[in-house]
Amino acid sequence: MSQYTPFHEKALRTAAEETGQPAASFAVSAPPKPEMGDLAVGCFAAAKALGRSPVEIAKDVAAAFVPSDELASATAAGPFVNFRVARPAVFAWLADGVFARRALTPANVGAGQTVCIDYSSPNISKHLAYHHIRSTVIGQALAQMHRALGYRVVGINHLGDWGTTHGMLLAAHEKWGEPSPLDITALNDLYVRFRAAMKEDPALEQKARAWFHRLEAGDPAARATWQRFRDVSWAEFQSVYDMLGIVFDEVRGESAYEAAMPGVIDMLAQKQLTSESEGALVVQIPGEQTPLLLKTKDGTTLYATRDIAAAMYRWETYQFTRSLYVVDRGQGLHFKQLFAVLGMAGFEWASRCEHVPFGLVRIGGKKTGTRAGNVVLLKDVFNEATDEVAAKIREGAGGGAMTPAQIAEVAQMVGIGGVVFATLVSQRDKDVDFVLEKVLSLDGDSGPYLQYSHARCASILRKGGVAASELPAANLALLTHDAEWAVARRLLDFGDTVVRAAAACEPHTICHYLLNLAGDFSRWYTLGNGDASLRVICDDADLRLARLALVAMVGHALAEGLRLIGLGAPDQM
Ligand code: ARG
Repeated sequence: MSQYTPFHEKALRTAAEETGQPAASFAVSAPPKPEMGDLAVGCFAAAKALGRSPVEIAKDVAAAFVPSDELASATAAGPFVNFRVARPAVFAWLADGVFARRALTPANVGAGQTVCIDYSSPNISKHLAYHHIRSTVIGQALAQMHRALGYRVVGINHLGDWGTTHGMLLAAHEKWGEPSPLDITALNDLYVRFRAAMKEDPALEQKARAWFHRLEAGDPAARATWQRFRDVSWAEFQSVYDMLGIVFDEVRGESAYEAAMPGVIDMLAQKQLTSESEGALVVQIPGEQTPLLLKTKDGTTLYATRDIAAAMYRWETYQFTRSLYVVDRGQGLHFKQLFAVLGMAGFEWASRCEHVPFGLVRIGGKKTGTRAGNVVLLKDVFNEATDEVAAKIREGAGGGAMTPAQIAEVAQMVGIGGVVFATLVSQRDKDVDFVLEKVLSLDGDSGPYLQYSHARCASILRKGGVAASELPAANLALLTHDAEWAVARRLLDFGDTVVRAAAACEPHTICHYLLNLAGDFSRWYTLGNGDASLRVICDDADLRLARLALVAMVGHALAEGLRLIGLGAPDQM
């Protein structure tokens, strides 16, 4: 049960008061079986401090227990005291959270703290291909989760708009002229074509390098072409971010740190951290085989040098509590080195920087990538998913009742949502491989299944015939069935789930929570199929109102949970 509830707090306080030990010396967990109680308070540390056995302490606490508004009973079970919470109080607390505060998340956990999240951060002049979605989608979920907990979040797109790649594009532009129309596909092709040509003709590599030098030196022609490529690329990325409803707080490409390069290198040199290796300027890291490269032998600064400048900029600008980098695990060494060098430079805040790595993405077993030119485009996947869902809605029962505009809106929410969910539902470090059909299925562990559960809540509420304004007045003490209690217990875990998911940077924790909630809801709801007295829309008006209020709470939790992981929650589908 969420520690951010008065029930958890009261159980700890009860144990503390009875024993005279601080609340922190008791640990709360869930009893092994729900029949045993709702909260298990372990007495180990308190017993140690008192020089007594935890079994005796547990017995004492249970014996002295007096029921309160929050807690109904206490029983000793070995070294634990199992408390049963007072169900009416739980329902009342949940109703207050949903109907009055409109939040089941503790909104002050992150008060006064700032989290920088570097995510998506694609490279310009290349397709935003499928493998980028994982960073985009995980980063967006982390941003939403932290925001819900009251952190100040700075979502940063560290656009890859600098480096020798851009020299290649300029050289290709000189060699073959400006593509028409100038769009991301043309730029991507230009890059692929140039790399292929470079294999045949090594002199082209020199050309690319020379162009990058011109760009670095501020040559107006080089700059103008580069800027055009950057604008075209950004417009394309923006269209995908729009589909996902993503707005970055800061879009600051690598090029923004160009001017800071000499300062970074001076700073590291002054701290005597730099050395030369085969003509290049590097930082040797104790215990690491490969050094961090600052400057190549022809004087070009690198990705890592710009990342040092960016980290310093973020610290100076935001004084973050956490600075997260949502980047694929292939860059593990880079971030390990980066953080090590920041630490060696004496920045205490280096320990606040975290790489949030993730595994590969495949679709139907196919790997995705830009180099070879065989890309699976994110936009195409979204559009295909949306079309498929639209066709399903038209065929299905919901189609007749919806206008074409409604179908289009829901199809986009569900099509994109299905893909987003499939990207998040596995633990970050696992590779994902999915087929579109499964991702969009309504009866698997899918995003559309959760969205459908939400739409079902909305539909029950419509059929229930009570106004939303009446729900808060429901007498929730009438909800005495175990299946109803299972739903309420799950709702109590909402806040804790978000806190844990944010701390571990694991949105999949929320995905699983929502699947469990939808399962509890469905088990309760379908009971009515066999027993009319258990129907939500039952004959007894008071009971009906209470059950509808519980449906509304589930609907709220589903919508809020879906929002945190970047999915919309349709009212019908
Ligand atoms: N542009 C890089 C890439 O696509 C990712 C950048 C991640 N962020 C960072 N600060 N290094 O691989």
